[in-house]
Amino acid sequence: MTRLVVVGSINMDLVTVAQRFPAPGETLLGERFLSVHGGKGGNQAVAAARLGADVHMVGAVGDDDFAQPLCDALAAEGIDVEHVAHIDDCSSGTASITVSGGENQIIVVPGANAQLTPRHVMNAQDLISRADAVLVQMEIPLETVEATLRLAHDRHVPVILNPAPAQRLQAEWLQLARYITPNQHELAILLGADPSEDFRALMRRSPCPVVLTHGAEGAWFREEGEPQHQRGFNVEAVDSTGAGDTFNAALAVFLHEGLPLAVRKACAAAALSVTRLGARGGMPHPAEVDALLARQRD
Ligand code: RIB
Repeated sequence: MTRLVVVGSINMDLVTVAQRFPAPGETLLGERFLSVHGGKGGNQAVAAARLGADVHMVGAVGDDDFAQPLCDALAAEGIDVEHVAHIDDCSSGTASITVSGGENQIIVVPGANAQLTPRHVMNAQDLISRADAVLVQMEIPLETVEATLRLAHDRHVPVILNPAPAQRLQAEWLQLARYITPNQHELAILLGADPSEDFRALMRRSPCPVVLTHGAEGAWFREEGEPQHQRGFNVEAVDSTGAGDTFNAALAVFLHEGLPLAVRKACAAAALSVTRLGARGGMPHPAEVDALLARQRD
């Protein structure tokens, strides 16, 4: 069983489904509202657990009404939450999400996620040392991302850095990651490049291997040489929230099968994730991934 540590955010997602996105200053009547568990870290932990990994979460919640349900939801998926800190006098992270036509718009208020410190990562150093891989994203303080990269690198544990939301990072940090998993837009921000530059050229210039997500079109990946393409899987998209998280989790879970197959499985898992509402609604189990792989063989 793949043993993973996820260092990242845990949010309550407040989701409104609407016919279209409102213009600035406009009020619209929505169709539906739901609150569901999310956050890039929590989502990646859940997606990995559903795919069969032994998952340990390093994160933080506040002391509000969302805190315990957020932890319980992770534990209910079999995830170890011993390293989820409860921060006093603080709200849990929230994400206000509007979904329309399978697309989304999101505003995140970090709350307790902003108080996840390098100390919390150090407290989990034994777990990290024993992990097959570590997943980290950027909805937590950058110093905590750096601490995760350095610790895992020192312990020879591969780190997948999902640079979302993107910020420019020093090349020295990127070199500590086994893979970075941006989309096209995030890769340009991360490298401080012109967004109009061809993403394949940016992938070649990256200081570490890149697995680039390309929405419904699939993914590109490069360790050395020319970037390779994996076609996306055809599905009916309901809500794209959490697709990137599912992709990252699957990549980590299946990495031991080799990068091309891991990327293929990650594309299939991400496609399945968009077929239901809510970040975690469509996150698949292995049999569903296998069935989709069997339906589309390239
Ligand atoms: O990646 C999707 C996630 O981003 C949502 O669950 C939301 O919480 C935001 O963090």
